[in-house]
Amino acid sequence: MSCLDEIAVLFAREGARDYLGELVTQSEHMLQAGLLAQHDGASDALVAATLLHDIGHLRREGSGLELMAGTDNSHAKTGAEWLTTWFGPDVTEPVRLHVAAKRYLCHVDAAYFSRLSEASRYTLSIQGGLMNEVEAEAFEGEDYFEDALALRRWDEAAKDPAAPTPELGEFRDLLERLNRLSGRS
Ligand SMILES: [Fe+2]
Repeated sequence: MSCLDEIAVLFAREGARDYLGELVTQSEHMLQAGLLAQHDGASDALVAATLLHDIGHLRREGSGLELMAGTDNSHAKTGAEWLTTWFGPDVTEPVRLHVAAKRYLCHVDAAYFSRLSEASRYTLSIQGGLMNEVEAEAFEGEDYFEDALALRRWDEAAKDPAAPTPELGEFRDLLERLNRLSGRS
């Protein structure tokens, strides 16, 4: 199965589940996030990263339910690793860093923390809580630091049941182009 077909199956099957206590499904959340990135003029790679950022949830039995039950399923890491089969670091690295970005933003921006949904605040506590100063400095040295922060803000904004939600097919050309550019199959 091609990368696109595998992603489409995950979005249609596991992605149709509830998204960790939010009012949208996991697929709707990711599709809304990808659209927000596109509307804000993000690069193709960052749009793809945002669209696929929670793919690690869809690839695990329980689809995030274990996270809500108090176990960190490391979905950022497992999702990024899976995506390296098809995409370069400009896609996979912001995915890998998107949970760390939440921990970082909570450390540097009290307003961001106060805007987190109840579910997101709960998962933060499971994922290590706010970063400390040493962790934050190390995070700022990551190559895809800025992209990870941008992804995170679209992530938080993409939980609105009334917001426009595109079809995955609308991103197909973009994903195929990035897959070809990466030289991975
Ligand atoms: Fe997310």
